[in-house]
Amino acid sequence: MPETYRNPQPELFTWEFAADPYPAYAWLREHAPVHRTTLPSGVEAWLVTRYADARQALADGRLSKNPAHHSGQAHKTGRVGIPGERQADLMTHLLNIDPPDHTRLRRLVSKAFTPRRVAEFEPRVQQLTDRLIDDFAARGSADLIHEFAFPLPIYAICDLLGVPPEDQDDLRDWAGAMIRHHGGQRGGVGRAVKKIRTYLLELIHRKRADLGDDLISGLIRASDHGEHLTENEAAAMAFILLFAGFETTINLIGNGTYALLRNPAQRALLQESVQRGETALLATAVEELLRYDGPVELATWRFATEPLTVGGVDIPVGDPVLVVLAAADRDPARFAGENTLDLARKDNPHLGFGHGIHYCIGAPLARLEGQFALAALLTRLPDLQLAADPEELRWRGGLIMRGLRELPVSFTPESADAR
Ligand code: HEM
Repeated sequence: MPETYRNPQPELFTWEFAADPYPAYAWLREHAPVHRTTLPSGVEAWLVTRYADARQALADGRLSKNPAHHSGQAHKTGRVGIPGERQADLMTHLLNIDPPDHTRLRRLVSKAFTPRRVAEFEPRVQQLTDRLIDDFAARGSADLIHEFAFPLPIYAICDLLGVPPEDQDDLRDWAGAMIRHHGGQRGGVGRAVKKIRTYLLELIHRKRADLGDDLISGLIRASDHGEHLTENEAAAMAFILLFAGFETTINLIGNGTYALLRNPAQRALLQESVQRGETALLATAVEELLRYDGPVELATWRFATEPLTVGGVDIPVGDPVLVVLAAADRDPARFAGENTLDLARKDNPHLGFGHGIHYCIGAPLARLEGQFALAALLTRLPDLQLAADPEELRWRGGLIMRGLRELPVSFTPESADAR
């Protein structure tokens, strides 16, 4: 048994933990699977780490997403640190509400954010990945987070929402400020969220007068039993699509590429497969990367509205519950060889996109971006390698997301005529 597993109680939420939380999660799964802890913000919360308990908790209607159900003051006073929490009208979004409001809003957005819309977006994602790689391919080195994983999802969502090209760099800068907040730098996030809010409201106003084919126009058009989204609801929806859809996808590309670079035999299998133009292994690879080191470490906040029992532990009314997706997805009771990256894994019902009524609405888009991004990197930069000591890589310190701050790589420069 590894030394770390034998220790009485691993320390959580330190920088060492952020670099590799998995030994600590293995300890919790075994010794304290439903564990009450004090978070770095001072808030007390329950961590749920076993797969079966995690699935049950994610689908339990007694666990509300509405922060008003927190018995403590932290959420009410905005101390928890969710970007935008002070912009109250932006916070009435899918991840903060329960049925019946959630059911109504989710149905409306599903009418606009359809699998067909995502499928039609494929050529655009291909074009974006190519353009971004073009910008650094001749150099022989890059920071894959800043130059590839970050811009790809933000431009993709902007395009999908219908943000005009000339405004997309502003959105990119404001989104960057929100990410830096998750990296521990608070300055500027309030201003960035305010700017995004003002921008989205104004864009929705403009689109209302001139509807197009984009997702925002789709949100304005969508109606359910004659009901439409209000402008504030549409802005909150656009905000959550932007917010939930970009840091997560950055981390899928970042953590995913990092895992491939650290597992050369698996990477070689995938590389040969994509070079042959196959897609089957690419599809299971993205699922496995979501399980092995997924972008969302903890599912978002839930609050007990009634006394309930999870994994044999009683949870009092008003207590926050955090489901640790990263721990559940390495539970040996569900995944054989839980710490092994197996890109061809068949039986893989991971919780990387959540479970239950809040299951990720952007999963088809995330899969598309993840598959195109990895395929493009492996085919265009075939000898891609890590250009840093893994010990020196820095991970972002936020509670919910798991991702690298930078990912330096090197490769043989692509010659101009190859492009
Ligand atoms: C690899 C990328 C992604 C991952 C790993 C991911 C993961 C998740 C997870 C775990 C949840 C559930 C959270 C919970 O129950 O607490 C969720 C919900 C959500 N995701 Fe994603 N997501 C990704 C990409 C996207 C994209 C691209 C979009 C949209 C453009 C998106 C939009 C949303 C929305 C709106 C919700 C809330 C759904 C609801 O409450 O009904 N996500 N996502």
